[in-house]
Amino acid sequence: MDRVIFFDTTLRDGEQSPGASMNTAEKVRLATQLEKLGVDVIEAGFPAASPGDFEAVQAISQKMTKIQVAGLARTSKDDIDRAWGAIKDAAHPRIHTFIATSDIHLKHKLKMDREQVIKTAYESVRYAKSLTDNVEFSAEDASRSDREFLCRVLEAAIDAGATTVNIPDTVGYALPNEFGELISYIKGHTPNIARAIISVHCHNDLGLATANTMAGLIAGARQAEVTINGIGERAGNTSLEEIAMSIHTRKSLLNLETIINTHEIMPTSRLVSMITGIVVQPNKAIVGANAFAHEAGIHQDGILKNRMTYEIMEPATVGLTSNRLVLGKHSGRHAFRDKLKDLGYDLTKEEIDSLFIKMKELADKKKDLLDEDIDALIAEEHLRVPDIYKLDYLNVVSGTVTIPTATVILFIEGVKTQSSGFGMGPIDATYNTIAKMTGTKSNLVRFSVNSITGGMDAQGEVTVRLEEGGMLALGKGTDPDIITAAAKAYINGLNRLKYLKRNPSIDAQERSF
Ligand code: KIV
Ligand code: ZN
Repeated sequence: MDRVIFFDTTLRDGEQSPGASMNTAEKVRLATQLEKLGVDVIEAGFPAASPGDFEAVQAISQKMTKIQVAGLARTSKDDIDRAWGAIKDAAHPRIHTFIATSDIHLKHKLKMDREQVIKTAYESVRYAKSLTDNVEFSAEDASRSDREFLCRVLEAAIDAGATTVNIPDTVGYALPNEFGELISYIKGHTPNIARAIISVHCHNDLGLATANTMAGLIAGARQAEVTINGIGERAGNTSLEEIAMSIHTRKSLLNLETIINTHEIMPTSRLVSMITGIVVQPNKAIVGANAFAHEAGIHQDGILKNRMTYEIMEPATVGLTSNRLVLGKHSGRHAFRDKLKDLGYDLTKEEIDSLFIKMKELADKKKDLLDEDIDALIAEEHLRVPDIYKLDYLNVVSGTVTIPTATVILFIEGVKTQSSGFGMGPIDATYNTIAKMTGTKSNLVRFSVNSITGGMDAQGEVTVRLEEGGMLALGKGTDPDIITAAAKAYINGLNRLKYLKRNPSIDAQERSF
C-alpha cells in the first residue's frame, strides 16, 4: 500500500478562519496533540506575517521532536529568511514557499509575466534549498492556472530542489473529476515529477474539498493538506478527519494507508473547538455530535440487530467513548482523572484538583455528567484569567408582559456591588447591568448559545467575542441556566479584556484570544 503524508495546516490556514486566532501557548498545546494524532507535518504558521506568528512557530519548532515543522513564506528572500529563522531549531524543519500561477493572479496581484514567475519560483526554491533540504513549493491558484504553464513552473521548482510540489485549489473552484485529471496531467507532463511528492490542498467553497482531495490522492498525489474540523479561510479547508477515515474505511479499494492514530481524532477535534471557540456543526462528518446518532426507528432496529447494517465505522475508532455517561456527584477523584485521560487531556495535578471541585459543583446541579460537560468545564477553566469581576448573584425577570429586568451582584476587585437594569430581553438586561456596574464599553461582536448535550437538563454553553479599543477577547460560560451561562461568558470576556489592557506586552496575535 502507498502511504499518504498528512500535512496539517490548522495552525496556519485554519487560523485564517474568521475569529480563530490562537495564542502561542494554545498553538504549542495543539501542536503537541497533532503529534499524538500522528500527522507527518505541521504547518506551524507564517512567520513573516507578525512577530506573534514568528514566536509561535519558533516555540513549536523547539518543542516538536518527531514531526516535521513547516513555516510558510512568499518567494521573497526576506520571507524565506524569516521562515527559516523561526523553524531552524526544529528536529525536522521544512520551508514552504509559494507563488501564484493563474493568469488572473499574475495580472492583477503579482503584476508579473509568466517567465518572471518561473524565474522567481526557481530562485526562491533554490535559496530555501541552501538553508534546508526539505523544501515544499506551492503554485497558488493552481486549479485555475494554464496547465502547460503550471507544469513548467513545477518543473523549475523541482529543478531548484523542491521535494514536495503542492497543487492548491485556492478558491475551492475545482470539481472532483477535473481536479483528479489535473493531478494526472501534472504527472504526465512534468518531466522531473518523479523527484517530488505531489501534494493537494483544497478549499471548501463549493463543499467539495474532501471529494477533490480524494480525487487527487486517487490520481497519484501522496500528500494531503488538511485542517482539524475543516476550519480555514472562508468555507474552510479539507478536514483531516474526513480524509483519514475515508482512507481507513476504504483502504482495500484505495490501496492507501496513513499513520494517523484515528483514536485521537475526537480529542483533537474537541481541543480545536475549545481553543478557537468554533463550534462543530452537529451533522459534521466524523466529529459532529450526530455523526453516530441513529434516530429513525428502522435504523435503530437494524443497529440493535447488527451495527454493520447502518454503521460504516465504529465510533470507538475515532475516539468516541461508547460509555458516554461519565460522572456524577458520587464519582471519585480517581474516576475523574481516568476520564480526563480517556478524553485525551494531559493536565497537571493542580489543574485536575481545581477541575475536580468544579465538577462536583456542577454535579450538584446536573445529575449525569457526559463527556461534553467535562469538555465544557475544561474550556471554561482554560480561558480563565485572574478574576477582576466575579458573579455572585443573578436574578432576571422576563416574560410576555414584563419589561426584562436583571438584578446583579458582582465582586469587583473583591468589593461587593449590586445594581439592576433593563433591556430588550433577559440577556440584554443582564449585559446592560453588568456593563453599567463595571464601567466597560465593549462591543458584543459574537454571541452563540449551544446546548452541550441533549436532554432537558442539558447545560447551555455561551461563547462571546468582545471588542474594546481594538482589542478582542473570547469569553465562555456554561451553566444549566442559559441566562447564567450568558452572564458568565460576558464576565469571562470582560476579565480577559481587562487582563489584556493590563498586560500590553502581549502581542497583537495574542490579543485576539
Ligand atoms: O490556498 C492556498 O493556495 C494556500 C497556499 C499558501 C498553499 O493556502
Ligand atoms: Zn489554503
